[in-house]
Amino acid sequence: MSFDRSLKIAPSILSADFANFGQEIQAVEAQGADWIHVDVMDGHFVPNITFGPDTCKAIRPHIKTVMDVHLMIAPADPYIEAFAASGADYITVHVEAGAHTHRTLQAIRGAGAKAGIALNPGTPASAVASLLDMVDLICVMTVNPGFGGQKFIHSCVEKVAELRSMIGDRPIHIEIDGGVTPETAPLVRAAGADVLVAGSAVFKGGSVADPAPYGENIRAIKAACKE
Ligand code: DX5
Ligand code: ZN
Repeated sequence: MSFDRSLKIAPSILSADFANFGQEIQAVEAQGADWIHVDVMDGHFVPNITFGPDTCKAIRPHIKTVMDVHLMIAPADPYIEAFAASGADYITVHVEAGAHTHRTLQAIRGAGAKAGIALNPGTPASAVASLLDMVDLICVMTVNPGFGGQKFIHSCVEKVAELRSMIGDRPIHIEIDGGVTPETAPLVRAAGADVLVAGSAVFKGGSVADPAPYGENIRAIKAACKE
């Protein structure tokens, strides 16, 4: 079977109700989410703090699709085992987060998870050129990481196209994270992305009590990409 490059929407629970992750995940999956994106922040690599591996473990049983853990932490190495043990399907680390990314990616795969590498908006595509055989996913940040609801940085779109051609036939997903909306999604989809993370654009207007807007928002992003 060929590699799945179909469009996938990965709602970020950074925009969900933090007091109610389990029900939020169930609601957004019932409304059509393809993956669940989990943003881990340390207050050091990024200027915000969210949660750690224990929270990931607690929410894991609520996720039926794919648990996509985005580590915005430095160092990452001491915590890889714990995040893998929490049940993450994908663990993504930042190429800017340490001097030994190659070793970190080996550790992720060694722990039984799929390995992702993320690039900040200021980091060129060439930073991951030597890592292509080590990764299952490349995450292109289209905002500076740390907060939801920021404005999409248009100059990152060219980098997506560059990475898509670098990847060739390799089985690597291209994920976009930050400022994805029905307006910006078609740009990155056309450039070669297949996983679109969306926080505020998916969770806006809805709630666990009234989840229909989650589905409308997901469908609006897909429709804008004509999918
Ligand atoms: C940003 C996070 C994103 C964030 C996206 O640091 O990595 O996953 O939740 O949020 P939106 O879609 O609102 O830009
Ligand atoms: Zn993220």
